[in-house]
Amino acid sequence: MKTISRISQFREWRKGISGSVGFVPTMGALHDGHLSLVRKSNEVCKHTVVSIYVNPQQFAAGEDLEHYPRPLEKDLDKLDCFTVDGVFLPNNDNMYPEGFSTKVYEEHLSKVLEGNSRPSFFQGVTTVVAKLFNIVQPSHAFFGEKDAQQLAIIKKMVTELNYPIEIISCPLIREENGLAMSSRNAYLSDDEKKVAAHIYLALQEGKNQLHSGVRDPQIIRNSISKQISAQPLLKIDYVSVADANHLSEITESISGDILVSVAVFLGKTRLIDNFSYSPSSNK
Ligand SMILES: Nc1ncnc2c1ncn2[C@@H]1O[C@H](COP(=O)(O)OP(=O)(O)OP(=O)(O)O)[C@@H](O)[C@H]1O
Ligand SMILES: [Mg+2]
Repeated sequence: MKTISRISQFREWRKGISGSVGFVPTMGALHDGHLSLVRKSNEVCKHTVVSIYVNPQQFAAGEDLEHYPRPLEKDLDKLDCFTVDGVFLPNNDNMYPEGFSTKVYEEHLSKVLEGNSRPSFFQGVTTVVAKLFNIVQPSHAFFGEKDAQQLAIIKKMVTELNYPIEIISCPLIREENGLAMSSRNAYLSDDEKKVAAHIYLALQEGKNQLHSGVRDPQIIRNSISKQISAQPLLKIDYVSVADANHLSEITESISGDILVSVAVFLGKTRLIDNFSYSPSSNK
């Protein structure tokens, strides 16, 4: 497992790799969600590259950039249990040299949900992912369904900017109590993690209603909101029932595929979770 920080060195190393290359971009503080992406890459591709980079461009002023966990040695130990050819660990000066001013924007899907609450977030994501794709030059890239909107935006970017990369979506991995795994869960105490599991339980209740035939999106939103609000420590940012393709809120009866998603604050920690539902298969 080769670790490389300089972009120029990575490019040199990449020249010696042939065959399919799976890429797993991360911000580190690796958990089983990240590792499931690495496992999938090992299944699909001859080679696997993981990047660990806490991208400052996707943090707004006042967010947790300085406090974001950076347990690099532990992360490398975890990756050692897989077949990882290269770990790319760029630094800020190399990624965004003085005067850097070129950005990649997606202008529709990135305006709603996470983009509405965190207006500069997705341009930070699309810019860094575009740069990483150009540096790593993977044949496949692996993204988690925990960040369903991010996945949709990256798929759109790859299509519209003609990247010759197959984007593979990987299922959302949860803690035993249902809480969606996230590096930011490290900010939570054990008691807070128990409270946070109610986000999952609320989504499950919404899913059960869909399975039993409820098609009014507002009934689903209200039911999820009510369950989350019953926990005094949880503060809702949004509860959304949206069209799975356009991510626009459903106002009429649910008839096509949907994404049900939430963002919730527990203290200063912002947690997201979601599920997809298709009325045609009732799944
Ligand atoms: N629980 C999870 N299940 C599946 N994939 C996940 C999970 N958590 C993160 N991922 C995926 O790992 C990749 C890297 O995500 P990232 O490094 O931002 O981790 P994170 O846990 O989402 O951290 P944070 O909560 O701070 O954003 C993304 O494709 C993301 O969707
Ligand atoms: Mg994330």
